[in-house]
Amino acid sequence: QERTFIAIKPDGVQRGLTGEIIARFERKGYQLVALKIVHISKEHAEAHYSDLSSKPFFNGLCEYLSSGPVVAMVWQGKNAAKGGRVLLGTTNPLDSAPGTIRGDFALDVGRNIIHGSDSVESAEKEIAHWFKPEELVSWTPVAKSQLYEKP
Ligand code: GTP
Ligand code: MG
Repeated sequence: QERTFIAIKPDGVQRGLTGEIIARFERKGYQLVALKIVHISKEHAEAHYSDLSSKPFFNGLCEYLSSGPVVAMVWQGKNAAKGGRVLLGTTNPLDSAPGTIRGDFALDVGRNIIHGSDSVESAEKEIAHWFKPEELVSWTPVAKSQLYEKP
């Protein structure tokens, strides 16, 4: 099944939104397969956002992501990458619909509290960048037959 990498950024952790965010992914039906709290180096942040290295906000963005603890997670389920982005809301919280994480809890594009992979390919790259293979746990949710139509 599809997996996505989700990270609660330092502002989200400091604001006490970790439980709220995890609850939203859980209630939607996604399955948690990896979870840790980490304070990453600036180099780790630069590699994570390497696609944005030419942007004027790149340095500030990497300072931000490495400024404090981040809650790093892998969530699994049907269309997890695309669906995870729907839970997050748009990049700029000004445009994020109420009911989305950024729409409900953020004001500033530079402090938008959460990261989510933008595609299946990015997800696999990011999972490998943040987690060792043995940190991913494979398990079968009891509720699976209630969440998905029979194949
Ligand atoms: P992530 O899930 O964090 O990757 O965000 P995203 O995929 O919605 O947006 P993108 O990958 O394009 O940008 C990564 C991050 O850079 C965003 O989440 C913002 O925190 C930040 N960012 C994007 N655009 C701007 C901008 O115009 N100004 C500032 N200050 N930050 C920006
Ligand atoms: Mg992105």
